Amino acid sequence: MDILKCSNLTRIYGTGGGKTVALNHVRFSVQKGEFVAIVGPSGSGKSTLLHLLGGVDRPSEGTVEVGGTDLYTLDEDKLAIFRRRHIGLVYQFYNLIPVLTAEENIVLPFLLDSRKVDTERLNEILSYLHLEDRRMYLPSQLSGGQQQRVSIGRALFTHPSLLLCDEPTGNLDRKNSEEIVSLLKESNRRFDQTVILITHDERIALQADRMLYMEDGQILRDEMIRQPCVHSSEDPAGGLSGVRAASVAAERSAKVPVGQNFSMSDAQGVCAGLQNQEGGA
Ligand SMILES: Nc1ncnc2c1ncn2[C@@H]1O[C@H](COP(=O)(O)OP(=O)(O)OP(=O)(O)O)[C@@H](O)[C@H]1O
Ligand SMILES: [Mg+2]
Repeated sequence: MDILKCSNLTRIYGTGGGKTVALNHVRFSVQKGEFVAIVGPSGSGKSTLLHLLGGVDRPSEGTVEVGGTDLYTLDEDKLAIFRRRHIGLVYQFYNLIPVLTAEENIVLPFLLDSRKVDTERLNEILSYLHLEDRRMYLPSQLSGGQQQRVSIGRALFTHPSLLLCDEPTGNLDRKNSEEIVSLLKESNRRFDQTVILITHDERIALQADRMLYMEDGQILRDEMIRQPCVHSSEDPAGGLSGVRAASVAAERSAKVPVGQNFSMSDAQGVCAGLQNQEGGA
């Protein structure tokens, strides 16, 4: 099942002599549960693409469908709600609210949506991110790696259709980078979370199921690295066969809490909202 489809996606900044074609008629789709890395030189259009996939920007041309919703047919208010509920965004510099604690930052999307926070879910996320003992800390009292874990918690809290990460390890040392990538992979594997991640680090890109290589606003290569752990609810092994299917099924049944969908989710609308308030993307 395609969770994301974009076609003819184009973003032109400026006009006349100052015109930049940042994205040039890009077309691709992503299946639910895929882990996709986007790589390419600086200025090739990676962040521009991610912002358009996340409903943070508006294209000059083309469409983006997330879970069957054509994003750019929505008005600003509906798009903001859609983002908050269905898209998780993680950035290099965390984008946490400095006056809120770690746990307040994580649940912020729910609060903005006037929804009651599920404390059981919050505890589960804090435990998953190894942040239980830091829940009352302010961002300034956390290390870079811990702050990035909070921002991942916020992005996952409402179980978004898409988790979009723009160089989430760009500001971290190797050990913290590895930890963040492990968490993203785990959320992909355990919770069938679709992840799209921009990175300049080849080691990280090679851990994805699929790699898109961008240059000059276009996808020049689209390579499958390994079979994604895509599965349906009827098939806990995700349609995989043989030893891999058995190990995936065993891993899932061992780790996914019974009776819960671990509906962590939807935080990036907050990031997007914050970015809009701050006037930057
Ligand atoms: N707001 C903007 N106004 C004008 N041009 C822009 C704007 N944002 C991006 N661009 C231009 O669009 C092109 C693509 O930028 P983008 O940020 O998507 O690149 P990137 O691949 O993410 O690069 P990096 O790896 O350095 O983050 C660049 O030439 C950039 O200068
Ligand atoms: Mg970028």
